[in-house]
Amino acid sequence: MEFSVKSGSPEKQRSACIVVGVFEPRRLSAVAEQLDEISEGYISNLLRRGDLEGKSGQMLLLHQVPNILSERVLLVGCGKERELDERQYRQIISKTINTLNETGSMEAVCFLSELHVKGRDTYWKVRQAIEATQDCLYSFNSLKTRIEEPRRPLRKIIFNVPTRRELPIGERAIAHGLGVSEGITTCKNVGNMPPNICNPAYLAEQARILENDYDSVSTHIVDESEMEELGMGSYLAVGRGSANESMMSVIKYNGADNDSAPIVLVGKGVTFDSGGISLKPGEAMDEMKYDMGGAAAVLGTMHSIAELKLPINVIGILAGCENMPGSNAYRPGDILTTMSGQTVEVLNTDAEGRLVLCDALTYVERFNPELVIDVATLTGACVVALGKHASGLLSTHNPLAHELLNASDQSGDRAWRLPLWDEYQEQLESPFADFTNLGGKGAGTITAACFLARFTKKYHWAHLDIAGTAWRSGGKDKGSTGRPVSMLTQFLINRSGQEQGE
Ligand code: BES
Ligand code: MN
Ligand code: ZN
Repeated sequence: MEFSVKSGSPEKQRSACIVVGVFEPRRLSAVAEQLDEISEGYISNLLRRGDLEGKSGQMLLLHQVPNILSERVLLVGCGKERELDERQYRQIISKTINTLNETGSMEAVCFLSELHVKGRDTYWKVRQAIEATQDCLYSFNSLKTRIEEPRRPLRKIIFNVPTRRELPIGERAIAHGLGVSEGITTCKNVGNMPPNICNPAYLAEQARILENDYDSVSTHIVDESEMEELGMGSYLAVGRGSANESMMSVIKYNGADNDSAPIVLVGKGVTFDSGGISLKPGEAMDEMKYDMGGAAAVLGTMHSIAELKLPINVIGILAGCENMPGSNAYRPGDILTTMSGQTVEVLNTDAEGRLVLCDALTYVERFNPELVIDVATLTGACVVALGKHASGLLSTHNPLAHELLNASDQSGDRAWRLPLWDEYQEQLESPFADFTNLGGKGAGTITAACFLARFTKKYHWAHLDIAGTAWRSGGKDKGSTGRPVSMLTQFLINRSGQEQGE
């Protein structure tokens, strides 16, 4: 897809399609008004006859509108003018893109980016439009032998901005939107890949590809023998029941001076979570291929920031392994010695994510990080608490939590904070080891984070539980959402001090 920005009037456009908004009830947006005048009331006539009410998401495609140079005019219902918010804006853009893609307009000039969205500027509107478009047009086809493509797909879209002065802002928004979208696509592609292909070695290969594509990126793969030397007893235990070797990929992005402390992202990369000896029930077990969604998001974010050339240092960890019930598998009752030296009694082999992450979190101490964020499809309890709309955010450092919430608000990639009070730590007490890997009844997302907090005392840390947000479940619509690449990249854009054009 090709994107650009322009500042022009609708009647002067010579395009396959121009896209303008209509509010409810039957009220023309400023741009639609201009078209109406040129066409001598053609549009207002249609509305009067009841062809379009203006309800959010309604579409009416017109051909050969009198005195209009463009072949088509797409009228898009935008709901009540005063109620147009961020969510509606994104939905309207998505519907528009689908309509354009299906109705043969290979290019379009879109004026929806001029609509007034509460509290949002041109940068935001253009960037969101780019991300929504790329999200809409994504499909995972690499393993299909027959692919249905639209005959005349949308190839080029021009977003209009109200004044010429805003053109550089729009261009910056396009660059950011494309950079973020590229990372989201990477995240989706590995997330959708089946577990017989996407194993820990495959994740490592993706890290290598990034290294080859960008001079600013270098990687190191920690294999099982190195983990052994490092004393990563907990991480190794999880992978022991699988024939696929555990591999931890360390991806370094160098965008600033070497002496600037890196931000570290750690992603849970369980390429298939069968539950191990504490085997999961069969229903929807296929979806546990997305238990590497955290690693996929870290990979995607690294891709985005390399593309955007952000002036910071970031290290991304893909903590790859597979949780299987092989004859050498770890068991409930086992006591593991973690890299930190702390011992853990395993009460359930299905609470494996924290056992992998805890050693990865100890490993990253060596980088003297500025801060560490881990990203993981960690608990079913998070899906119960927050559903699919918000990622769970837990942190021992308030300023960091606020920065992340701010980035989530800016990007529309939502997160919601849960508490991490010491009271919950009691739920991890063990009679045999320092603590257990199971928090028991109640507050499963919090006790999982409490477990991780015991390994993150040496730096500022936040944890994102993406069990509900990384994946769309069920039906033919299921698949990776690419979340939370957008939030993380926004956080890093903010951190790198790149102004957004205001
Ligand atoms: N990968 C799962 C969490 C999960 C569940 C992600 C559903 C996405 C959807 C994790 O490893 C797990 O199995 N967690 C257990 C923890 C429990 C045994 C304490 C869970 O949530 O049931
Ligand atoms: Mn599990
Ligand atoms: Zn898991």
